[in-house]
Amino acid sequence: MAQLSFDALSQAEANHIELYSNPEMFELELERIFYSTWVYIAHDSEIPDAGDFKTTFVGRVPVVLTRDADNQVNLLINRCTHRGSTVCAEERGNRQQFVCPYHAWTFDLDGGLDGVGLPSGYNEGEIDYQALSLQKIARWDSYRGFIFATLSPTARSFDEHIGEAKKYIDYYCDLSPTGKITVGATGIYKQKYEGNWKIQLEGSVEGYHVWHTHKNAIDVMARDVPLMKDYPRLPVKAYDLGYGHNIIENYTLTEEQVHQRWPEGFVDSLVSAHGRERAMNALRHRFNLVIFPNFALLEYHVRVIRPLAVDQTEVRTYHTSLVGAPEEMNIRRVREHEFFYGPAGFGGPDDYVIFDRIQRGYRAWGSEWVLFNRGYKSEQTDENGIRSGQHTQETQQRAPYYEYRRLMSISGEENALSEFLPLAGQQEAAK
Ligand code: FES
Ligand SMILES: [Fe+2]
Repeated sequence: MAQLSFDALSQAEANHIELYSNPEMFELELERIFYSTWVYIAHDSEIPDAGDFKTTFVGRVPVVLTRDADNQVNLLINRCTHRGSTVCAEERGNRQQFVCPYHAWTFDLDGGLDGVGLPSGYNEGEIDYQALSLQKIARWDSYRGFIFATLSPTARSFDEHIGEAKKYIDYYCDLSPTGKITVGATGIYKQKYEGNWKIQLEGSVEGYHVWHTHKNAIDVMARDVPLMKDYPRLPVKAYDLGYGHNIIENYTLTEEQVHQRWPEGFVDSLVSAHGRERAMNALRHRFNLVIFPNFALLEYHVRVIRPLAVDQTEVRTYHTSLVGAPEEMNIRRVREHEFFYGPAGFGGPDDYVIFDRIQRGYRAWGSEWVLFNRGYKSEQTDENGIRSGQHTQETQQRAPYYEYRRLMSISGEENALSEFLPLAGQQEAAK
């Protein structure tokens, strides 16, 4: 597998189905992508108070994000340093300590080992409390509350990595008069589908299918936002933001349309909070943003992609709310979200049926390529190297694979992952 040429399997206009269906490829993706670049962890509004925690995963590695008694945020490997059980099973909550369920080793929220079960059975000096703390992931950072982390000491800086995506995160958060949002406080749900994780990555910014798969939903949405009727022909674009990140504009309102869409008092409150330019950017732009490899920001929610196996993926959906916005505005966001994306919504569930069908299709032979060549020849590149195309074309599906090919060509050793994955190295040596 290490000899494979990723340029042959992943090309500018198509991917080989091996990328979506070969279990060895999936293992390599965990090492070279999920353990080597920045991945999304959580939003800081999910752990607002001392003692709050959230468990999640970096690839397959269980982690727990905590806010300790000193209000410091810690990102810890959720693995007891005695015999390896996860120390916390709940997805979120508030605790003073984590007590391992096996032999009651007890850890503080900053990871420190505070005590062990039946301590008199240990001889003097047998336990090095310092060394047996929960392992910390040192490299985590955040932008406007969105927390990302990497296991790799050699990954590029977070600031450089998040780069062009910042502008869109600003548009999103500035829709709140306080500039703050909550993520998940108004609802979370999980969806599992029988397909590769990259199908959701590509599908989070899919403009080509909307007029067809979601035709009924669009007809209903057009009652509130009339320009949706003409979705395939809207003068909006999709952009490759670099480092695998990308965005599709769904629609962009004119100033006149802003006043039709939003209550006047709400527009005024944003203008006085942020100034006219920032407020108008937030009010005018509707988009889906992907930050490679596991994060998407959509109009009403954050979507987190969790790869489980080559043909198994879990997607967690965290509804977002605007802190300080009128109550009716946030209620409207819940209703509009439910309408399209909810578990019984008009749009989202249809996508997951298609994702299952795509993976089923990979089992057939004869056609070995997954195409995303639509609009390749007419794609434009600006002076900063940002590629763009009309939003129903496939610039945004091609975008992740420039970074994918780069990362997949760098071994875990070069990424200095051995600190976190000692067993992976041993297994390799034993083969
Ligand atoms: S495995 Fe955690 S205390 Fe033994
Ligand atoms: Fe869709």
